[in-house]
Parts: sequence; structure tokens; C-alpha cells
Amino acid sequence: MPGNIIQWFPGHMAQTRRVMKESLGSVDLIFEILDARIPASSRNPEIEALSEGKKRVVILNKADLADPTETEKWLKKLREDGCEAVAVDSKSGKGKEEILSRAKQLMREKLERNREKGMSRPLRAMVVGIPNVGKSTLINRFAGRVAAKAENRPGVTRNKQWVRAGKELELLDMPGVLWPKFEDVATGENLAMTGAIKDTILQSEEVAVLLCGRLKDRYPALFAARYKLSDEHMELEPYELFLAVGKKRGFLVSGGEVAEDRCAAVLLEEFRSGLIGRITLEEVPCGPSV
Ligand code: G4P
Repeated sequence: MPGNIIQWFPGHMAQTRRVMKESLGSVDLIFEILDARIPASSRNPEIEALSEGKKRVVILNKADLADPTETEKWLKKLREDGCEAVAVDSKSGKGKEEILSRAKQLMREKLERNREKGMSRPLRAMVVGIPNVGKSTLINRFAGRVAAKAENRPGVTRNKQWVRAGKELELLDMPGVLWPKFEDVATGENLAMTGAIKDTILQSEEVAVLLCGRLKDRYPALFAARYKLSDEHMELEPYELFLAVGKKRGFLVSGGEVAEDRCAAVLLEEFRSGLIGRITLEEVPCGPSV
């Protein structure tokens, strides 16, 4: 399994680097979107090099699905590491205003120079992030309409698309695709559990069992409450726990066996839509955040 994940996406970074480079000259800064539930795993470690010195606002998106206490810790860590960082729920728009104020703060010298020259044009930001992290949703939220439509297939370069977001901001959907980079097994697992990589890469049963293990370790009370699991259940190994969930929910085939595919689909769907609770899968590291 780990081999499969780590070997994914050969060679697309070169194309991304090229198309991003072509557009960097026309933006003032970068909005780097991460998934608040897995901030490190959803960050492409090459973003620093790809940004070519442009300033970045780091956006922890899907904050509505993440544990608020953990999100605060991540924001603190990112800010300690020298980033402007904001938590956002792009679906509702919560936190959106802070992105603009952080961007203006980052670019204050340039804005001041422009003002002195009598120039007043909106700030231009390129929105970058791995597929499914919420780039289109955020852009549409800023635009107040459906403006962005992402094309996440390898080898497909999206058309350049500027979106006006009020008087002070213009957004550019990232050209090219910033694939995630799995440098270790845990990163691949985190991306699979949140749905950033599709369940065809890993078997969904496998991903659901991983999720049971993670929920047992990190959010036992939420997990037990959702599936009415007893203390004895919570002592079980992840696979047995997964079967216990299936039995509790009545996902059985004739003969009384658990219908593993159905159980996995429901577990993953309920986790991804926040029904189990607000869950962060990745802890703030002690060293640098990436
Ligand atoms: P992308 O452009 O980066 O590829 O991501 P996109 O905006 O398409 O978002 C991917 C999925 O994540 C979408 O769900 C979207 O609704 C959801 N999403 C984006 N931002 C947020 C957020 O802040 N909170 C929550 N809870 N979800 C968010 P989908 O299932 O693919 O589509 P749909 O459910 O919107 O129809």
C-alpha cells in the first residue's frame, strides 16, 4: 500500500512549475490553501520554491470540519514560523474578511507606494493548493457567484481565470495542478482519509479501518458517541472496531457478515461531512510546520 501512494503523480510538478512561473509576474501575492484537518499533509513542500519569493497568506480551509482548539494551535505555529495564517470556512464564507486584511497587512509597503503614485488597483492573488482543498469554493465565495471551475486532471492546464472580488482584490485560480507530495506513509493516509485523494487509489475499506484507528486514538469520545460504541469496543484493534461499527449500524450481508464496502463508504462519508464531529487528524509538530 505505501508503495502505491508514494509512487503517485510522477512528473507533473515540472508542468506546474512552468505554468505557475508564467503567471507569477502578474500577481502580488499567493493565497496558499491547506486543509485545516491535515495542514502539513495538504501542503506541497515545493510551494516555497514555486512561489519564487512572492509573499503568501496561508489559509486553513474547511475549518468548520476541524477541531477548533487544534486549528488555533496550527495558526499559532504557522505565525511563529513567520507566515500570515487564517482559518476559513469557504462554504459559509466565515473568516474570508480576515484573508483580505492579512493580505493588505503583508503588502502594506507596496500598497503605500502605489497610493503615493496615485495608483489604486486591487491586490492580485494567485490561489494555490492541492486538488479538493477548496480553491474554487473560496474563489466563488469571494466573487459572490460561480466563477471558478477546477480541472484537476493530470496534464490539463486550466485557462487563466481572473476573478474580481470586490474593489480591493482580484484572484487568479492556480494554473496547473499542485499535486500533494507523499513523503511518508502517514501523509498518504491523511490525504486518503480526508478524501483529497480518491478512494480508487487505496481501497476504501482500508482507508476506513485507518480512520477507525485514528479516531480511537485522537477522538474516542466523539467516535464512541456517534456509533454507540462501548468501552470494550474502544479496546479493539482498528479492523475489529470497524466491524463493530458495521454491526452497530446493521450493515450486514446474508450470513451475518459485515458488508465492509457499505460500512466503509458510510464511515468515510460521515467523517468527511463532519457528522462524527470536528476532527483534526494531524497534530502540530514540535519543529517547523513543514
Ligand atoms: P478545489 O477547487 O481546490 O479542487 O476544491 P473545491 O472548491 O472543488 O472543493 C472540494 C470540496 O470541498 C467540495 O465538496 C467543496 O464543497 C468542499 N469544500 C470547500 N471548502 C470547504 C469548506 O470550507 N468547508 C467544507 N465543509 N467543505 C468545503 P464536494 O463534495 O466536492 O462538492 P459539494 O458538496 O460542494 O457539491
